[in-house]
Amino acid sequence: MKMFLDKNNWEENLPTKWAGCRLEYHQELVSTNVTAASLSLEGASHGTLVVAERQTGGRGRRGRSWESPAGKSLYFSLLLRPEFEPEKASMLTLVMAHSVAKAVEQFAKNVQPGIMEYVEGSEPQGGVQKRAAIKWPNDILVNGKKVSGILTEMQIEKGRIGHVVIGVGINVMAQNFDGELAGKASTLEQEWKVKIDRAQLLRYIMQNFEQDYEAFETSGDLQPFLEYYHSRLLNKDACVKVLDPQEPFEGIARGITAKGELIVEKENGQTCFVYAGEVSVRGKKGYV
Ligand code: BTN
Repeated sequence: MKMFLDKNNWEENLPTKWAGCRLEYHQELVSTNVTAASLSLEGASHGTLVVAERQTGGRGRRGRSWESPAGKSLYFSLLLRPEFEPEKASMLTLVMAHSVAKAVEQFAKNVQPGIMEYVEGSEPQGGVQKRAAIKWPNDILVNGKKVSGILTEMQIEKGRIGHVVIGVGINVMAQNFDGELAGKASTLEQEWKVKIDRAQLLRYIMQNFEQDYEAFETSGDLQPFLEYYHSRLLNKDACVKVLDPQEPFEGIARGITAKGELIVEKENGQTCFVYAGEVSVRGKKGYV
């Protein structure tokens, strides 16, 4: 199998100060999140990037697995060593969602005219949307289909963050999704009919994330991303089901707070602030 990343070429063309500067690229790993966590225990630095062509035990959120065949997708994990309090770490999933959505949209510019009929600021009139959507807290969708998921894992030492690993999977080239994923997942190339260079997509993400992380450190919350996030939030001002294992409920999603909670207005007028944790959110039609 041809390697899609070349270490020298990667280093020469990476426009970042720390994000992705140390690259660990493997043909096969169990999970890039697991490798990033063990590299952290060996002292790997902030911004170490672990990429695999294929994963044999890719992990998804809420105990799910993440199908990771070779040659078609991006599977990577970024190791971080934040100085801030552990309570803030869950916001990093939303910071990465912002970085990934923006990076993905950079390829929408190449979508052929005629395929894309979506005009900035208007509702899509059929055709393909050039905007990505963010399904709170960790999914990126294109044309109503999931193309990317994010899994953030943290290690705490004596009440402080030891490390955070943000793992991202992106479906890039055409592939079939069966079972649970049928009709729900898709790939960037399938939806936009554009060629995507995986190395370039990864470079865009590293560049965006470095800027976004620094903005997040400065503000201490998600304030810098709220405008963009709200313009991309799936089901904003629409009905959602919050699948809280304790007490599931329905309401209208109004946006997110600067701390990353989903704001849901219940029928009785009560406003709830939903913390990601083990909660999952569904639109009226099912997944979307
Ligand atoms: C989800 O949507 O449930 C999150 C999926 C995250 C998958 C990525 S692929 C790279 C990294 N390594 C893993 O084992 N999981 C994440």
